[in-house]
Amino acid sequence: MGTPGVLVRFLFLLLAQLLLGSARGLHNASQRTFEISYDQNCFLKDGQRFRYISGSIHYFRIPCFYWKDRLLKMKMAGLNAIQTYVPWNFHEPRPGQYQFSGDSDVEHFIQLAHELGLLVILRAGPYVCAEWDMGGLPAWLLEKESIVLRSSDPDYLAAVDKWLGVLLPKMKPLLYQNGGPIITVQVENEYGSYFTCDYDYLRFLQKRFRYHLGDKVVLFTTDGVHEKLLQCGSLQGLYATVDFGPGSNITAAFLLQRNSEPRGPLVNSEFYTGWLDHWGQPHSTVTTEAVTSSLHNILAWGANVNMYMFTGGTNFAYWNGANTPYAAQPTSYDYDAPLSEAGDLTEKYFAVRDIIQKFAEVPEGPIPPSTPKFAYGKVALKKLKTVEEALDVLCPSGPIKSLYPLTFIQVKQYFGFVLYRTTLPKDCSDPTLLSAPLNGVHDRAYVSVDQVPQGVLERNRVIILNITGKAGATLDLLVENMGRVNYGRYNNDFKGLISNLTLGPDILTDWMIFPLNTEDAVEHLGGWGGHGDGHYVEARARGSSNYTLPAFYAGNFSIPSGIPQLPQDTFIHFPGWTKGQVWINGFNLGRYWPARGPQMTLFVPQHILRTSAPNTIVVLELERAPCGSDGLDLCLVELVDKPVISAALTYDRGSAELLSKDPWLDRV
Ligand SMILES: *[C@@H]1O[C@H](CO)[C@@H](O)[C@H](O)[C@H]1NC(C)=O
Ligand SMILES: *[C@@H]1O[C@H](CO)[C@@H](O)[C@H](O)[C@H]1NC(C)=O
Ligand SMILES: *[C@@H]1O[C@H](CO)[C@@H](O)[C@H](O)[C@H]1NC(C)=O
Ligand SMILES: *[C@@H]1O[C@H](CO)[C@@H](O)[C@H](O)[C@H]1NC(C)=O
Ligand SMILES: *[C@@H]1O[C@H](CO)[C@@H](O)[C@H](O)[C@H]1NC(C)=O
Ligand SMILES: *[C@@H]1O[C@H](CO)[C@@H](O)[C@H](O)[C@H]1NC(C)=O
Repeated sequence: MGTPGVLVRFLFLLLAQLLLGSARGLHNASQRTFEISYDQNCFLKDGQRFRYISGSIHYFRIPCFYWKDRLLKMKMAGLNAIQTYVPWNFHEPRPGQYQFSGDSDVEHFIQLAHELGLLVILRAGPYVCAEWDMGGLPAWLLEKESIVLRSSDPDYLAAVDKWLGVLLPKMKPLLYQNGGPIITVQVENEYGSYFTCDYDYLRFLQKRFRYHLGDKVVLFTTDGVHEKLLQCGSLQGLYATVDFGPGSNITAAFLLQRNSEPRGPLVNSEFYTGWLDHWGQPHSTVTTEAVTSSLHNILAWGANVNMYMFTGGTNFAYWNGANTPYAAQPTSYDYDAPLSEAGDLTEKYFAVRDIIQKFAEVPEGPIPPSTPKFAYGKVALKKLKTVEEALDVLCPSGPIKSLYPLTFIQVKQYFGFVLYRTTLPKDCSDPTLLSAPLNGVHDRAYVSVDQVPQGVLERNRVIILNITGKAGATLDLLVENMGRVNYGRYNNDFKGLISNLTLGPDILTDWMIFPLNTEDAVEHLGGWGGHGDGHYVEARARGSSNYTLPAFYAGNFSIPSGIPQLPQDTFIHFPGWTKGQVWINGFNLGRYWPARGPQMTLFVPQHILRTSAPNTIVVLELERAPCGSDGLDLCLVELVDKPVISAALTYDRGSAELLSKDPWLDRV
């Protein structure tokens, strides 16, 4: 392993070389053309036959600190292009409130690709799927409850129009014709897989894209290889491409593209190098052999290909999506891709590079090495406060009162957690059934009565629960939004208590609803104080059940001095913890759920760590902390140097049948 100085010098030289290359290209913008040749069945770049070998990288899943590292590794694999989605909800978190800086600086990301000599295939949405919350559509669209997403619904179109009017003018100067790297722009995404099949909507998008980007840019669509999908997903004037993975019949797939596009380049816009995961299902893998043999054949066809993903990255914070019947995706989006979640070179990377080398020139010179990882070791956490004790910090404006429960959208909380509180209307000294008869807990509720944990309700899995308590006791349900459905008909995924709860036969009423601002609260945790030294006796809260009250825990660790290369990336492991959310120095790393798996550790990128002061880990454990009622167990997390995202599943998969019917898997 070289010293950082060597690496920096190497990167600098490579960058300088690449800069010179692209500067030459920029010299005369008016000479730059990128178009489809229907005569020669290919793309033409500056009038020359051109074929792209591309890989997907999602800037929104990688801290900008690491963008250049990942792009450079992609360049060195022999790719001449990269492909990214643009998730609308990442850039417009609230109506009219835009974010385009730091990790959201998509223009900077595209410029970086350009500086490295990579072309860019832009999938601009508005819908992107991507295993991303609501497929990239902002949750606030659901404020009109009956909205038909991805259709000509006028309210939907008005919001889309406004968004495209912000995004596309930023992209215009980055188009190839205008001196930038963007060669093609995708409109919508696998639209044929959606039930609406609304050509007016596609025509509307086509007009707006043309209006903002001009006549020259190649606009395209992508659909699965099925006649019906291509019918509903494509439109005259948008070049139709297909997506398929290893093992598919390539001849059949491209014949199908030829149905829609009798002439022009063959394009596989998503060639799957791996596959997505769900909590509670085994980690997906695709063998290197399967990937390379198909890739070889696609390239031998002379086709253009984009490998989805080339590097997957991470669903930080609350950004993961879900499939139906409801199954949420984990925090890691490793995807078994050629570059790992942490950007590491894998055997698949080198094998893919070897295949590319048979068809194209691969850059000479050393490949940037995998980043070193460091095991900082065990960190003891102290319990700070339960969510209930911290309500004044989590919800300073106080609760919203409502006879019946309101959804997250109705209280303008889009992500994270809302606490629903009412009182028991009658004595429940004997176990009494609390139930969500319409499966209306979206997605998971941590239930307590007078601060005694009662259990968990979970969408599609657990809709009844016995509780006990006296009349007038406080019933709390902390409801977690585990990520909105990103694919298929059920995109309109409302969160919270979306229907009434009953206690015995009676509908519960008179709710106090606390939308929780966890991010601000975590920032101010310093002033909360702790409960002792990491040993915590949870006498009252633990009760006889297996649950502890949802609570915040915090602890500090310092980066060892005297090791010059630190800080380095690491992975956080949760021995004995159950399910929750974790922050380091205020950066929301995402959800952990070792009790369900298969992901056991979370990626911690080094740029969030500091050497000047201790690093603070905050954990919100929702279900059961490892500190025992005997007071002997410590609340420990551990920072390790190897990821575990494919643990064997240990939990009871009694209701796994629900998951095995995942329509995503049948879509082709
Ligand atoms: C740029 O290219 C155009 C078209 O080939 C040509 O007319 C023009 O003179 C060139 N300009 C420069 C500065 O080279
Ligand atoms: C692949 O598809 C082509 C065209 O539909 C067909 O002729 C061929 O038999 C298929 N190959 C296999 C192995 O199924
Ligand atoms: C609730 O408690 C009753 C009485 O103890 C018991 O018969 C029933 O099986 C329990 N139901 C559930 C869902 O736990
Ligand atoms: C709850 O029940 C009441 C009375 O039947 C009904 O009016 C209301 O719409 C229901 N609320 C929800 C969220 O289902
Ligand atoms: C607690 O969990 C353990 C293991 O998951 C299980 O064996 C035990 O029955 C549970 N106890 C109660 C009271 O639910
Ligand atoms: C962590 O360190 C900070 C100072 O950097 C201190 O304010 C805080 O109390 C410490 N937290 C814990 C849980 O030890």
